[in-house]
Amino acid sequence: MAKEKTLAILKPDCVRKNLIGEVLKRIEEAGFEIQGMKMTRLTEDTAGAFYAVHKERPFFDDLVAFMTSGPCVPVVLEKENAIEDFRALIGATDPEDAEEGTIRKAYADSVGQNIVHGSDSVENGKREVAFFFSEEEVTANTAK
Ligand code: RTP
Ligand code: MG
Repeated sequence: MAKEKTLAILKPDCVRKNLIGEVLKRIEEAGFEIQGMKMTRLTEDTAGAFYAVHKERPFFDDLVAFMTSGPCVPVVLEKENAIEDFRALIGATDPEDAEEGTIRKAYADSVGQNIVHGSDSVENGKREVAFFFSEEEVTANTAK
């Protein structure tokens, strides 16, 4: 199976709840290689652009308000089948629907505040990695 990159974002609720380390630990234990990471604070413009696909949805304004409410941590991850496997690791969008053992089930409060983002396709993964990171900021661990 081919290696893929996916973009995770540890959302503002994850940062506020001091769960950055806990969530990264789960991600590493699940076999993902962290290849890029930064802390940043989204603006209305950058959050709106990142979630532009949801612009017409009723929850868009709440989503932008939440994603700009504090710092977040975008992370580039690589693994075989990374897109699908990461979505499985984080669980359903609404934590009430998320399976036991998933990150959202464990830590998320609501569908709007659900701890972590994960890319939903290989193409979107590439686009989302490039949204936050230059090529120089994405580095494979060649020391392994
Ligand atoms: P994400 O993009 O953040 O990984 O989440 P997702 O794929 O599981 O869900 P998506 O449909 O892409 O929605 C993006 C984010 O919008 C918020 N949302 N709120 N109130 C609602 O019904 C609702 N639906 C979606 C969530 O925070 C979701 O993560
Ligand atoms: Mg999504």
